[in-house]
Amino acid sequence: MTKPSDTPVTLRTRRWYDGSSRDNYIHRSWMKRGLPDDAFSGKPMIGICNSASDLAPCNQHLDELAEFVKRGVWEAGGIPLEFPVTSLGETQIQPTAMLLRNLMAMDVEESVRCNPLDGVVLLSGCDKTTPAMLMGAASVDLPTIMLTGGPMLTGRHKGKPLGSATDMWRMSEAVRAGEMSVDEFMATESSMTRSAGHCNPMGTASTMASMAEALGMTLPQSATIPAPDTRRKRLAHLTGRRIVEMVREDLRPSAILTRKSFENAICVLSAVGGSTNAVLHLLAIAGRVDVKLTLDDIDKIGSHLPLLVDIMPAGTRLMDDFFEAGGIPSLMAELESVLNGDAMTVTGKPLRESWRDQATSDATMIHPMNKPLVAEAGVAVLRGNLCPKGAVVKPSAASPDLLVHTGPALVFDSIEDYKARVDDPNLDVTAETVMVLRGCGPSGYPGMPEVGNMPLPEKLLRAGTRDMVRISDARMSGTAFGTTVLHVAPESAVGGPLALVRTGDIITLNVPERKLSLNVSDEELQQRKSEWETPPPVATRGWSRLYIDHVMQADTGCDLDFLVGSSGSEVTRESH
Ligand code: FES
Repeated sequence: MTKPSDTPVTLRTRRWYDGSSRDNYIHRSWMKRGLPDDAFSGKPMIGICNSASDLAPCNQHLDELAEFVKRGVWEAGGIPLEFPVTSLGETQIQPTAMLLRNLMAMDVEESVRCNPLDGVVLLSGCDKTTPAMLMGAASVDLPTIMLTGGPMLTGRHKGKPLGSATDMWRMSEAVRAGEMSVDEFMATESSMTRSAGHCNPMGTASTMASMAEALGMTLPQSATIPAPDTRRKRLAHLTGRRIVEMVREDLRPSAILTRKSFENAICVLSAVGGSTNAVLHLLAIAGRVDVKLTLDDIDKIGSHLPLLVDIMPAGTRLMDDFFEAGGIPSLMAELESVLNGDAMTVTGKPLRESWRDQATSDATMIHPMNKPLVAEAGVAVLRGNLCPKGAVVKPSAASPDLLVHTGPALVFDSIEDYKARVDDPNLDVTAETVMVLRGCGPSGYPGMPEVGNMPLPEKLLRAGTRDMVRISDARMSGTAFGTTVLHVAPESAVGGPLALVRTGDIITLNVPERKLSLNVSDEELQQRKSEWETPPPVATRGWSRLYIDHVMQADTGCDLDFLVGSSGSEVTRESH
């Protein structure tokens, strides 16, 4: 093990602790609550940035993992210092956790920058906590490693596995279709969440954990080891050990989060059938490290790649099966020909080292490239007069027969309007109708909620319809499915063409040609635009006001305009 005195870099924290000034005295004295004198003379100070919270149930167990991280930090000669940050529980926060992603990223960024730290361990889990932490830490660029909390174990009802959220969506549709009783639906509620951990399909949490691993920001296997598995505690210990080494090597996110690593993440996103939310988060993280990544890159790099992992919602199985089959390293072994194996990782070694000798043990779970589950599975980016700045659709979660479709629009002005009318027996709707929902974009809602997978009208469900084309400026849960066009940009609240659609207008979706068109003349659209009035702001004070004044559109990842880029770790002025 490297001794503290061998530390080859000048530690950032020496600015706080070296010397005999009054300020040095203050910084040391108030920290001497058990720490010996030599803690302040050359040992790396490691922040453990912990998003554990009882209100973010998927992250509740991170306190226990933090203890194992600390063991590793002590063992390697560092000083572990745990601190809390804003946390976001996807299922609890109203109006939507996405409204607070950038707030959490700011909290992480400022907490890391303003405190005496040489390196950081990020403990995340639920959907938004992983991208928020990566965004914030990337803007500071101190040596950083992430450990995600891991997925839940598979719950079962009457012997049948339950995919968290994915089966909830399915069962709630079955109730509305008259195929399942409400009592039976309720009986599954307690079985859905079997253990600690985040959702166990390839929803947004599993997707972003996979993205963090593919980006090289975690140790191998971080994404898939189930939360209660003892091997996750072992990984936590190794993570603590490794961050101390990273400080000594001065290995920072800017050396890891490169264009090559984002390309790798996009390839993995396709192969796991990952959440469309990852598009927003990857664009936002790239913006923090000045990597030029565009919406079109997502399509160009990933859309022709196959779905290889048989996991819900695109497939049939869950994260613990994926882990047993070898997890992300085994998947990357299959993807070797399209990955940048020389991309740097937190291990200090290139990414290809993580998949060496990691061929899958279960080719029915991780399919070979020549026998994919779906041939072209990545997120497709659409263009057209309805979405001049783009929109996304996930073909692997859609119905193949709806990927080319023309039908009349049925417009809902808000999610409340949709809920009030969708089950009206007199609603003029058929399986050919294109349901359009607006007012759900980043600034219009605010926060772009996951309502884009509008449940189908009850009368169509009862008649046997199981999918329809749906279009919105909203997002969709990564656990959900359907032929849903999402993230339409610009959103309706800022006057995007979505604001101008009228019920009965004809809309054409052509995913193979990447087109989304409103079949209305330019002259008519101009006339409608001249009559359109900007809606009043949905917030007048506080975070929501700051957010709507500065949030960028979905095509660039919904970061705040003044948070793009990096401020670095320098803090030159004293507090006393
Ligand atoms: Fe937290 Fe699904 S609600 S991961």
